[in-house]
Amino acid sequence: MSYESKRPKASAIRTGKLFLDALDGHIGERAPFWFMRQAGRYLPEYRELRGKKGGFLAMATDPDAACEITMQPVRRFGMDAAIIFSDILVVPQALGQKLEFVQNEGPKLEPVRSGSEIAALSFTDFEKNLAPVFEAIKKTSAALKTEGFSNTALIGFAGAPWTVAAYMVEGEGSRDFLYAKKMALGDSKNFAALIELLVESTASYLIRQAGAGAEALQIFDSWAGILDDASFQQWVVKPTRAIVGMVREVYPHIPIIGFPRCAGSNYFSYAQNTGVTAIGLDQSVPTQWAAKTLQPLMPVQGNLDPAALLVGGDAMAMAAERILADLTRGGFVFNLGHGVHKDTPPEHVAALCDILRNWRAS
Ligand code: CP3
Repeated sequence: MSYESKRPKASAIRTGKLFLDALDGHIGERAPFWFMRQAGRYLPEYRELRGKKGGFLAMATDPDAACEITMQPVRRFGMDAAIIFSDILVVPQALGQKLEFVQNEGPKLEPVRSGSEIAALSFTDFEKNLAPVFEAIKKTSAALKTEGFSNTALIGFAGAPWTVAAYMVEGEGSRDFLYAKKMALGDSKNFAALIELLVESTASYLIRQAGAGAEALQIFDSWAGILDDASFQQWVVKPTRAIVGMVREVYPHIPIIGFPRCAGSNYFSYAQNTGVTAIGLDQSVPTQWAAKTLQPLMPVQGNLDPAALLVGGDAMAMAAERILADLTRGGFVFNLGHGVHKDTPPEHVAALCDILRNWRAS
């Protein structure tokens, strides 16, 4: 069977939004693009608003501020998709875990490490606590239309259970998430209960985001790559498949992008077994391997090294062009391999957008 004939069939319907059409497997006139963490500290208008609002969480819980920040990069650079401004850790916070963001240090949570600490988490106010996110999605959906970005799609997102659980157990970022791994391996009954709670809450969170106007969903599994194979199947693939199934019961056609960062050759198993619509690649995934192995199964998204964007110039242009040359024969959305680095000059982002807008397959 030829490479072309193995690709899943795109439906006949086109939305007029390059990003959504690409997730449906269409190869358009150019590759659509957006960037993970496209809103954030590298933008002076973000830093100004954060100064006024007094911090990250204050902005994320204010629908007008969250809408404004979501729009900032779109107004400047005209990406093909906007991603709602929030964070993956609002889910544990909405379940009752204390969360703060300490400037220059990142998130701090009161660790959850025992059965009784897990049992103390509660669904009771979950949807009420997350209401500002749904409100921000509604506002942004309207703002995209009124500000003339009617071809820009709006993405909702959540962290995957493994990555969110890793922060919940650890209490903060970590290089190896050893507390989380200790619990996953040594106290798997309690860890399974935590994952189960996150499957339920994440699915309902994503369903509500779709109901509020998110047109596509991304599941961030940033720490998928630190697990051994058996744990990857148990804590990454299985819970993700459960969430995708629950979302699809309510929204059978909404595109869902999975991002199992640094999963290596387990990218294939993730693509085959989770039911996601498309798969996000980190920068370590060889693009020719992805074109041969993953793209026949589903559209791919990625994977410029954020460091190339930070550096800019020829290094950035050459890396971006290599990705385009390798991946534009199948369903493809251009993105980074991880989030925009906070020291990235906005001019580099503008230059990359020019390259992407003008690039045509030769
Ligand atoms: O992509 C976007 O533009 C949407 C917004 C978004 C944020 N966080 C805003 C944010 C998204 C999609 C996330 C996801 C997220 N959050 C992930 C998964 C993706 C990834 O980067 O791996 C993770 C692991 C987190 C947890 C988190 N949030 C950490 C570890 C940190 C501190 C490190 C850092 O980059 O500051 C955050 C804070 C955070 N989330 C900021 C932003 C804009 C910076 C807050 C600030 O100081 O203003």
